[in-house]
Amino acid sequence: MLELKNISYSVVERDNVKTILNDISCVFDDYSITAITGHNGSGKSTLTKIIMGIIQPTQGKIYFNNIDITDMPIDERAKLGINYAFQQPITFKGITVKDLIDMASNSENSVSNACDYLSRVGICAKDYINRDFDKTLSGGEQKRIELALALAKKGKCIIFDEPEAGIDLWSFDRLSEIFDKDKLYIIVSHQERLLKRADKIMVLENGRLVTYDTAGKVLNELNKMKCRKNIGGIDEIR
Ligand SMILES: Nc1ncnc2c1ncn2[C@@H]1O[C@H](COP(=O)(O)OP(=O)(O)O)[C@@H](O)[C@H]1O
Ligand SMILES: [Mg+2]
Repeated sequence: MLELKNISYSVVERDNVKTILNDISCVFDDYSITAITGHNGSGKSTLTKIIMGIIQPTQGKIYFNNIDITDMPIDERAKLGINYAFQQPITFKGITVKDLIDMASNSENSVSNACDYLSRVGICAKDYINRDFDKTLSGGEQKRIELALALAKKGKCIIFDEPEAGIDLWSFDRLSEIFDKDKLYIIVSHQERLLKRADKIMVLENGRLVTYDTAGKVLNELNKMKCRKNIGGIDEIR
């Protein structure tokens, strides 16, 4: 269980204090999928970076299974089982996809095991397993491999920031199915298909948590807002 208590984040910009997240409190349940959505600039990536420890909140506390992790660096959070899949994957020269899967899972995988992770994200495993993870891969291929690496990690909680970014919508149907309920998943997304797969949806607006409820209820609300032509953040609702 991950708990945020009164999390705020502000920066000083040209002598003015800019509040990016404002007093966010919530609980993310184990073995469940929570989707975070909202307009561009509403604070979604900032919130996930705070959970991972990439940036520190200016106020508030974060607890993971009742352990206060607020001041814990990224590597210690990772040891506790909190992992993060970056919005933009980083490429490496001289390291194969199989090497990366072994590193991610912290174990030597059989080829068939490693291939399973790749198949799960919809790529033909045998074509990629021995390839270097470098710039010769297309953006969409890199992104899928990055998702496979996140899935290979043995953590208890995985945070994805816009996993759909850079992946064609034709194959997104299958992609939304890669998230099982084997862990606590926190997924920033605008994709209605992915939101429908979530147990709960959180909506951020100008750094505030405006809604956090079961997916059915929140999607219903978002659809009503769409009818009033009042929303611009959800791809397939827009
Ligand atoms: N270090 C920073 N300094 C100034 N503004 C920032 C900083 N980090 C984020 N922001 C601003 O905070 C807002 C929220 O950013 P972000 O969390 O990336 O939004 P989202 O992921 O919801 O699109 C944006 O307006 C962004 O420009
Ligand atoms: Mg973002």
